Amino acid sequence: MLKLENISSGYYKKRVIENISIELVENKIYLLVGPNGAGKSTLLKTIAGILLPWEGKILFKGKDISLLPCFERAKLGIAYYFQGGVVFKDLTVKENIDVAGILMNKKDFKKELEKIYEIFPELKKFESKRAGLLSGGEKVQLALSMVFIRKPELILIDEPSAGLGPGVVKKVMETIKVLKNEYSATILMVEQNIIEGIKISDFIFTMEAGKIIDYAVPSNKYDLNQLEKLYFGYKT
Ligand SMILES: Nc1ncnc2c1ncn2[C@@H]1O[C@H](COP(=O)(O)OP(=O)(O)O)[C@@H](O)[C@H]1O
Ligand SMILES: [Mg+2]
Repeated sequence: MLKLENISSGYYKKRVIENISIELVENKIYLLVGPNGAGKSTLLKTIAGILLPWEGKILFKGKDISLLPCFERAKLGIAYYFQGGVVFKDLTVKENIDVAGILMNKKDFKKELEKIYEIFPELKKFESKRAGLLSGGEKVQLALSMVFIRKPELILIDEPSAGLGPGVVKKVMETIKVLKNEYSATILMVEQNIIEGIKISDFIFTMEAGKIIDYAVPSNKYDLNQLEKLYFGYKT
């Protein structure tokens, strides 16, 4: 559903990612790992259209979207989840979801809202609570719901567990898995907590210095040890 052909991009004169060619198929979770500064966020931004590629082609469901700005890519079904997730702290849970669905037709929105409340009964329970008062895990549920309610087909998720306590990471990963299954979406996710990330992922890309250097199906404990040692300098 997404194909990158020899993509390079960066900021101003600084080339960050180089000659990246990957292909994502439907209904899978792809984990993108690698050390800080490898270019993981830059790759997600280039797919979302926040940055335009300097070279190469991006094909989404067969259509060349390389030169489309981010809002056009969003309309086609590509969503971007900012590091930490974006919610409006002073608005209630329901008001946040209303904002997310502002461009949807009312009937469709109502149906999708019911579905979200079914998946996350906590959000219904806290409908009139201010988002700023939610726990870390609930906040991520809300932020992810605001992305999924528009039924995107490809979701780019940058470090969903950033800033959250270790106990919450597991819950966040489970939330992502539940949403992926409910919406049959394709997810490309950057996550530093490889141990938890790998549990819900179908494939792992490893990035180093702007290049994809490895592509693997998570299989056993050995993979984890090797990854952690190679890129983070410690063993599991
Ligand atoms: N807005 C920016 N302007 C200039 N350079 C940037 C910007 N954002 C990131 N970079 C640089 O691009 C490189 C890759 O960054 P990034 O994609 O954020 O890495 P990662 O997400 O893997 O940690 C780093 O050297 C970083 O300093
Ligand atoms: Mg990053």
